[in-house]
Formats: sequence, C-alpha cells, structure tokens
Amino acid sequence: MEEMEIETFEGVYEPAEDSWMMCNYLPNDLGSVLEIGCGSGIISVHLAKQGNQVTSVDINPKAVKATKHNAQKNNVEIEILQSDMFSAVLNRKFDTIVCNPPYLPPSENYNDPELELAVEGGANGHEFTLLLLSKAKNFLNDQGSIFMIQSSKMGKFQTPWEKKIIKEERFFFETLSLVHFY
Ligand SMILES: C[S@@+](CC[C@H](N)C(=O)[O-])C[C@H]1O[C@@H](n2cnc3c(N)ncnc32)[C@H](O)[C@@H]1O
Repeated sequence: MEEMEIETFEGVYEPAEDSWMMCNYLPNDLGSVLEIGCGSGIISVHLAKQGNQVTSVDINPKAVKATKHNAQKNNVEIEILQSDMFSAVLNRKFDTIVCNPPYLPPSENYNDPELELAVEGGANGHEFTLLLLSKAKNFLNDQGSIFMIQSSKMGKFQTPWEKKIIKEERFFFETLSLVHFY
C-alpha cells in the first residue's frame, strides 16, 4: 500500500484493525465513492490516492475537521461534509458506498459520546448497518455496490442484497469481515 500520514485527533475514532482491513482489501478502482463515517479520513485518503473520486461524510464535526486536515496533509482532493448518514448528499448518486460502521451493541464500559457514536451500532449492533443498506439504493448508480465491515459481535440480520465476504480475520475478541453487498 502507498504511504499515508494520518494524524489522530481527540474525539475522533483512531484507525484500528477494521480501518486497516478496508485500506488493505478494498478494490482499488471504485469510481465515485461515498464514504459514510470517515472518522480520521484514513479510508477516504487511501481511496483518493488510488485515483477514486471521493466524497466523505461524518456526523461528528471533529471527524470532518480531521479528514480535511489529513486530506491536505496527504495532498489529495476530497469533498468532505458533515452529514447524518445520507442527509448532506440527498439527490446524488455514486458508484460505490464504503463504510466502517459503528457495529457494537451498547456497553457501559465507557462514557464518551463521540466514542459511542463511532462504535455503537444500535441495540443489536447492526441497526446502523441495516438502515444504511435499506437506503443505499437511492444513492447508487446502476450496478453500484457497497463495501462494509461486519463484526461477529453484531446480531445476525437479513438483507435483500447479495453479499460476498472479501476478507475475514480473527482478532482477540471478535472476527471482522469486509463484506461486498451488490
Ligand atoms: C468505526 S468509526 C470509522 C471511522 C473511519 N472510517 C475508520 O475506519 O477509521 C465510525 C464513524 O461513523 C461516524 N458516524 C456514526 N454515526 C453516523 C451517522 N449517523 N452519519 C455519519 N457518520 C456517522 C462516527 O462519527 C465515526 O467517525
């Protein structure tokens, strides 16, 4: 993988195994890409470096700031917007949506609203993912598809999308998968 310099910021999800799995195993040529939940910007910067045309959104204003900083630091052009999922890109379409979503069920081990936003995906961990999948067709070109991280910590769910696991890795307390929905 090409060199990247990503700075971390207080209140913004620090790149972890899931972030690196996306950078290492996403296909390079994804066309026009919408990243939902860009955090530090690591995945968006990586995809922009591959020549994709990237729009990055996050609900957390600190993540928007971090992604702007890291895009500039790595000399890549990215459109970066504050957005609650698709709210800032209504009426637009992309070739690909990528998302390393909040996917854990709630925990009482921390009391940090920005961390909660980054990691908690709803009562069963999968509600954020299901909502994204249910809305995504409206924001995709014909043949468009979605790449998302899933965790063994998420409750099982059904979706009408076809799905293929691109990469699966076991970590200390969970198994992570990079999944292609098409
Ligand atoms: C697991 S972090 C991933 C960050 C980064 N993409 C990475 O892989 O390192 C999930 C991100 O989703 C953002 N997020 C949570 N709910 C959101 C929503 N409704 N709309 C947009 N972004 C959201 C969080 O602020 C957080 O930055």
